[in-house]
Amino acid sequence: MHLRVALLGCGNVGRALLTLLAEKEAVLRERHDLTLGFTGGMTRSAGGWLLPEGTSAAELVSIGWPQGPAPAGAQAFGDDGAAFAAACPANVLVELTTLNPATGQPALESIRAALGAGRSVVTANKGPIAHGYHELRALAERQGVALRFESTVMDGTPIFNMVEASLPATEIRGFRGLLNATSNYVLGRMAEGASLEEAVAGAQRAGIAEADPSNDLDGWDASVKATVLANVLMGADLRPQDVVRDGLGAEAMRRAKAALAPGQMLKQIVEAERAGEGVRARVTLAALPPSDILAHTATGETALRLYTDTMGELTLVEGDGGPGQTAHGVMADLVAIARSWNSAPEQGRSDA
Ligand SMILES: NC(=O)c1ccc[n+]([C@@H]2O[C@H](COP(=O)([O-])OP(=O)(O)OC[C@H]3O[C@@H](n4cnc5c(N)ncnc54)[C@H](OP(=O)(O)O)[C@@H]3O)[C@@H](O)[C@H]2O)c1
Repeated sequence: MHLRVALLGCGNVGRALLTLLAEKEAVLRERHDLTLGFTGGMTRSAGGWLLPEGTSAAELVSIGWPQGPAPAGAQAFGDDGAAFAAACPANVLVELTTLNPATGQPALESIRAALGAGRSVVTANKGPIAHGYHELRALAERQGVALRFESTVMDGTPIFNMVEASLPATEIRGFRGLLNATSNYVLGRMAEGASLEEAVAGAQRAGIAEADPSNDLDGWDASVKATVLANVLMGADLRPQDVVRDGLGAEAMRRAKAALAPGQMLKQIVEAERAGEGVRARVTLAALPPSDILAHTATGETALRLYTDTMGELTLVEGDGGPGQTAHGVMADLVAIARSWNSAPEQGRSDA
């Protein structure tokens, strides 16, 4: 199987993906009979290029694109991301642009354009999945193509792929987790005696926190992830603003830390449960007793516990995550697409 791939956005994750695919080229060929050709690339500042005959990940790494030049023989493409997604000569668009938690745009529009043109999509961007999952999935089904997004929650930790492949006919009744690494890092350092400011500065030095950590500490990042999980795994139709955010933020963290009983651990917790026909989700600061498994996650870790009707409780814990793990989830999604085409060769094989 040869996949023609176009890459929209190539920052930390995109560069890690190219490096990983170059390293794993022989494994993908020998174990999965899979080869990849990059037929297009675009970033905001470097602009776009198209190359119908394709080039390898190793070649893109070696020329240093997008800081370096586009590959030899490529034609420049001057329009926006949605036009690129519609025009690129690829079977799969890999969408790795910046998160817009409020609307999911412009990535949502790019993904619509790719699916509408009969291309499968892999994205690590939780914005468009949180804001448009049901619509995008319906479009992908109508077009007979794939929409995969493993890396939108807990980097490349296999959540969606595990549920799809290994929990057939299972109902996910709810979930509880610790999905924001920055909050866990900051609360963990505060438990060791650091002030909030020292803990945030440490998270920034470790490359976990953004320059403005309020999205993380105020629970907004966790709300977007909770929306993706609730909509995909539980059939909900939430938007991030529907997730209740309770007692969060810097001041609440200081107060909750001061009120903590001995042995308790303070964590930012995401919870979702069925409520009538719908799903109720919330993000809160919780003082966890030592008997709670989530109390034991280390500073940079994230965790998710699923409540199921077949397997009881299942808990996934990710060690320190980052662009490398996120790239792995994207690669796993590409392999999943190739596998599904091998088993149903008439599906989603647009060679546009
Ligand atoms: N970093 C992680 O560990 C991680 C983990 C899970 C999920 N994710 C998600 O993965 C995605 C990529 O993350 P990242 O860390 O690689 O981000 P990043 O380093 O900021 O890179 C974003 C890339 O998207 C490009 N871009 C932004 N807007 C664009 C537009 N309108 N048209 C074309 N290109 C555009 C940027 O181009 P310029 O550089 O030219 O602006 C850059 O190449 C994000 O949605 C993020 O939330 C990341």
